[in-house]
Amino acid sequence: MKIELKDKKVFFENGGLKKEIHPFWLRERVNSDNFVDKGTQQRLFDPTELRADIEINNLNLSKNYLEVSFNDGTCTKLTIQNILKELSNMNDIKCIDKLEWDSSLKDLNDYEYKENLFEEKAMYQALMNFYQYGFVIFKKVPTKDNFIVNFANSIGSIRKTNFGEFFDVKSKPNPNDLAYTSLPLAPHTDNPYRNPVPCIQILHCIENEVSGGFSTLVDGYTVTQKLKKDFIDHYKILTEIKVRFQFIDQSVVLEDWAEMIQLDEKGDFKQVRFSPRLDFVPLVEKEKLDLYYSARKKISEMYNSDKYRIEFKLSPGDLLMMDNHRLLHGRTSYDANEGNRFLQGCYIDYDSTEGKLKHLKRKFNLSF
Ligand SMILES: [Fe+2]
Repeated sequence: MKIELKDKKVFFENGGLKKEIHPFWLRERVNSDNFVDKGTQQRLFDPTELRADIEINNLNLSKNYLEVSFNDGTCTKLTIQNILKELSNMNDIKCIDKLEWDSSLKDLNDYEYKENLFEEKAMYQALMNFYQYGFVIFKKVPTKDNFIVNFANSIGSIRKTNFGEFFDVKSKPNPNDLAYTSLPLAPHTDNPYRNPVPCIQILHCIENEVSGGFSTLVDGYTVTQKLKKDFIDHYKILTEIKVRFQFIDQSVVLEDWAEMIQLDEKGDFKQVRFSPRLDFVPLVEKEKLDLYYSARKKISEMYNSDKYRIEFKLSPGDLLMMDNHRLLHGRTSYDANEGNRFLQGCYIDYDSTEGKLKHLKRKFNLSF
């Protein structure tokens, strides 16, 4: 990718394709002290108040800089590197390739907690791991005084829900969710009935004295890519039909409609939702429903298959951070008479991890 000048116009060339850079796009980036606050990088002017007929009067391109003066009397010196960075979306978390994994994944890539972890390079590596695999495990995280709240707020901000700022996962009488029993939990995503669905779940093991109660994870990305390859009609119907997900208890009724496999604007993977105790398909044509039910059965078989599931035991101090839009999680059953099994959980949103990762990338001058 490179920048070129011709007839008072700026072009960028990428893979043989040449496109003009809009003069207004450059004018918006005028960055001298009068125009941008150096601390916050926020504009000191409102670009919607600029004249619409911005044109370039003069241009000068050197190895590292592009100097431009405009017909409204302003001029700027922009670094080529910054322009190319914007044009290539190099700063976008989406550049981080998702790695597909299944039950053969052995190295869980865990990171040991220490006091300054959130400002260290190890945290950058842990978050990169999170975006590549959809989860990361931290060991030896303090278990006293609801430390999960400190942990979450050191990355970003806790996403509070009607389950509270954080929730205690242990078997209890009259539970409002199966999570609070000792029953097995099949792979599922959390809270598909919320709008927006919490992005990241954090589970912190405080006590685990039982022989069962293994944590399970399945990569929804891997499974849906496989479904797309082998069962395209099933894949398609699950990306098309918006299903109603619902949660009801004494104090709240939560509902949202969404596809089980949600794609982004380019048709690529965005999010999976799966919680077959909470989903209600709308009454559409019988033939469509035939296909939908067959597709749901197929994807359920895949999500529940040994082929895709990893299983591991969380020990006290272990903290699992997982992408709730990508991964499914569950647990095996346990016998509550054997002892305590006590996990604490909370949610954070993507802006937390993205903000922290970009900050550490900038701090250590690293790349995605
Ligand atoms: Fe859950």
